[in-house]
Amino acid sequence: MDHSAFSPNDEGLSWSVRALFDHIADGDLAELPIELPNVGHGPLAALQTLAPVVLGGARDLGAPGFFAHMDPPTPWVTWAATMWASSRNQNLLHPDTAPNAREIERLVVSWLAPFFGMSGGHLTPGSTVANLTALWAAREAGAREVVASSDSHLSIRKSAHILGMPFRAIDDWNTTGDLSDSVAVVTAGQTSTGEIEPLDAATSALWRHVDAAWAGPLRLSERHRHLLDGVENFDSASVSAHKWLFQPKESAVVFFADHEPAHASISVDGAYLAVPNVGVLGSHGATATPLLATLLAYGREGIAALLDHSMDLADELYRLVESSNDFDARSAPNAGVLCWRHRSVSAADITSNLSGNAFISTTIIDGEPWLRSVAANPMANADVVVSAARVASAQLT
Ligand SMILES: Cc1ncc(COP(=O)(O)O)c(C=O)c1O
Repeated sequence: MDHSAFSPNDEGLSWSVRALFDHIADGDLAELPIELPNVGHGPLAALQTLAPVVLGGARDLGAPGFFAHMDPPTPWVTWAATMWASSRNQNLLHPDTAPNAREIERLVVSWLAPFFGMSGGHLTPGSTVANLTALWAAREAGAREVVASSDSHLSIRKSAHILGMPFRAIDDWNTTGDLSDSVAVVTAGQTSTGEIEPLDAATSALWRHVDAAWAGPLRLSERHRHLLDGVENFDSASVSAHKWLFQPKESAVVFFADHEPAHASISVDGAYLAVPNVGVLGSHGATATPLLATLLAYGREGIAALLDHSMDLADELYRLVESSNDFDARSAPNAGVLCWRHRSVSAADITSNLSGNAFISTTIIDGEPWLRSVAANPMANADVVVSAARVASAQLT
């Protein structure tokens, strides 16, 4: 049998890289076989079939008009590092299948942890799992209920449910009552509004977790790090790398102030394991590799420049909205998130009529629908977005 497909193929890999430079038109999913083919097409033909669907048909998160969700475009260094990581397919569960990949994860966590006053932690596929992991450690430390603001991310409720812990939603951190057997989750960058809840809240809680999935990376910016002052006093923190650290999904970090006992409390031994399995995942890959490559390529200053620029874009969008006659903002942007709306046309009508390559998300706050623009795309253009919303609303007034 021919096993050459397990070795690098110059023609195939060169073609696949070249395809990234070409403006491939959107493909028709209906042209893909509806059933598993009996006879394979071969690797190059498979990629050629898929390129229009996967590349041509993808949403361009780096387009000037994309000012919508918490999903950033990714720099090419992450594409290359991800390809390397998948070519080696290390499993970080076993030291012998991932000698350096495990060390890379440890290194990248050790670079980032001090920005949050944490001693260590590990990568997870997103902040949903980071939150679940932190709340699991809190439960092992004795927490009996999860308390979070009613605007906390749905992953907090989900985690409480999975862990069999009651969830208490509160509206005001000043009137929470007794927290002595609770894990309190304070959100640094609410999903709908970007608001950073008071980071000095809930000091009487048995365990304090900060969900900094969105705003956490601002800690790397000299200009904006103060927005997260107090983050260093929590027992654990979640930060999504696939949001404002510009990583391919799925990538996030759960940090612990004291990671050794926290990790020990959420570790399980198995007969086939050389080291204990820490956290929720079993087998897991080298997602730290593209993150390390990005941090090495940009340095703290380079990442901070991207974040500062993104924050400026949100301010610019706010100015355009506030100086217009037809749109209003709910407030100045919070951590790069602006909620805004047209004075007479609904947010849903605007987003469903946006043309060209403009995208804005929507959310509901206190029962009211809003347009929501998240500054996750450093190449976004506020003018393009407001103009597109204006054209859409003009068709409806
Ligand atoms: C505040 C907050 N926490 C947690 C999450 C969940 O993160 P993920 O989608 O990476 O699982 C999100 C996602 O938007 C979020 O905004």
